[in-house]
Amino acid sequence: MAKAAKKVVKAKPKKAAAKPAAKKTAPRKGGRTGGCPMRPTSLSAPRKDNASRFKTVGSAQLTINGGKPVEFPIYKAVEGQDVIDIQKLYAATGHFTFDPGFLSTASTDSEITFIDGDKGILRYRGYDIADLADKSDFLETAYLLLYGDLPNKEQAEWFRYRVTHHTMVHEQLQFLYRGFPRRAHPMAIMVGAVASLSAFYHDSLDIHNAEERELAALRIIAKMPTLAAMAYKYSIGQPFVYPDNKLGFAENFLHMMFATPAEEYKVNPIIADAMEKIFILHADHEQNASTSTVRLSGSSGANPFACIGAGIATLWGPAHGGANEAVILQLQEIGDVKNIPHFIKRVKDKTDNFRLMGFGHRVYKNYDPRASVLRKACYDVLKELGQEDEPLLKIAMELEKIALSDPYFIERKLYPNVDFYSGIIYRALGIPTNMFTVLFAVARSAGWIAQWKEMIEDPTMKIGRPRQLFLGAKPRKFVPVTKRK
Ligand code: CMC
Repeated sequence: MAKAAKKVVKAKPKKAAAKPAAKKTAPRKGGRTGGCPMRPTSLSAPRKDNASRFKTVGSAQLTINGGKPVEFPIYKAVEGQDVIDIQKLYAATGHFTFDPGFLSTASTDSEITFIDGDKGILRYRGYDIADLADKSDFLETAYLLLYGDLPNKEQAEWFRYRVTHHTMVHEQLQFLYRGFPRRAHPMAIMVGAVASLSAFYHDSLDIHNAEERELAALRIIAKMPTLAAMAYKYSIGQPFVYPDNKLGFAENFLHMMFATPAEEYKVNPIIADAMEKIFILHADHEQNASTSTVRLSGSSGANPFACIGAGIATLWGPAHGGANEAVILQLQEIGDVKNIPHFIKRVKDKTDNFRLMGFGHRVYKNYDPRASVLRKACYDVLKELGQEDEPLLKIAMELEKIALSDPYFIERKLYPNVDFYSGIIYRALGIPTNMFTVLFAVARSAGWIAQWKEMIEDPTMKIGRPRQLFLGAKPRKFVPVTKRK
């Protein structure tokens, strides 16, 4: 449970000897790890209330069984679909709406990520995903998601420093890891380990305090790679490797994954670059299943680390983030280009539950824009690493070709999604298959925490509490066990 908002007593700024203005942004001296750049002022503006956020552009009328029409306002989207506000439907009509799987329901308004599934567009805070993947890096993108704008030089320096200096985790955590079987799936460990951060940062975290929320965000982004690499090291029986603050975000992750106390690991810049790109592409994806889980958990005021743990559990499923691992396992099962027709036949067989992993998306009914970036990156990385003849890539490309020309896939608008290619790249980079979804979680933690922060900062936030259409038994009398048939 979050604590009630604390009364923040602001310390009077000490009157320092007059310093030149430029010194303000220069690193502070002292501290064990060197100097932290000064925190830039005004990192994010407070969210507006509903009345100022929503622009009404019309109304929708609903008549139930010829009764009196009820009106609902329509709010304008900056881009994409406008929405009909049905919050008052129950009070006005006594009915609920029914929308399993949220096919037509916007669960929230948001300013973070925009997707146009028909046109294959994905933007973070207005920036095109391909542009960010090409020109930005993961930490800058995480800053963008959290604060709404790309950082200037001073802000970028501050953010990088703060994230870098929160990468270590409490030593006690290694005992939690040691309680897992060595063969545990790293996603199982991640669900527990990330949620367990709430045990370390609970009493000190007041979610109604902006600075404490920010610290929670920095901590989650910083510690995810450390926890992820620890899950891997534990599974192969190697000692945990501490983060190295000299390294960039992806570099540090690779270092913690592959260095050993006995041997230094030289990070290959091609691999680090590819990983930064994949992290950017996976950083956020508006109200997907895991993000909605984080928001729903967070709406009760729960500890954000516990909420992210819940998000990781949702991500693990093969219909969501677990698809990147499932793609590789499926390509291995297909085994040879000549076996593809057999698997395509299985897809079309209604009595067989078989699906081509890495194909289809709830929102994209066009090429997944993340897949377009990764498709190219996939070729580039494999070429640079001299792995163009990778047999799985051959099967994947043939599968893609056949699927894109087959009427079954065309009619259903099933295109390769981001996970079709990310798994192939991860494999080429030497990442073990069972770590693929963990990497997705590392990247998505930036989006999860940005979405959680946006929700908590909404002055009209309510606990998420869906309703249901009850189709169970009518009232009946209890019968003692001796009299039951
Ligand atoms: N292979 C074969 N058929 C498929 C596939 C597929 N991968 N995906 C959907 N279909 C068919 C499905 O059988 C149905 O056919 P019909 O109309 O004849 O019954 C039709 O397409 C619509 O499917 P749906 O299940 O109603 O679509 P959805 O929007 O609920 O599901 C999805 C989206 C991603 C869960 C689904 O496409 C899928 O299971 N894909 C494979 C798993 C995958 O790659 N997931 C990663 C998504 S991208 C990463 C992320 O953002 O999480």
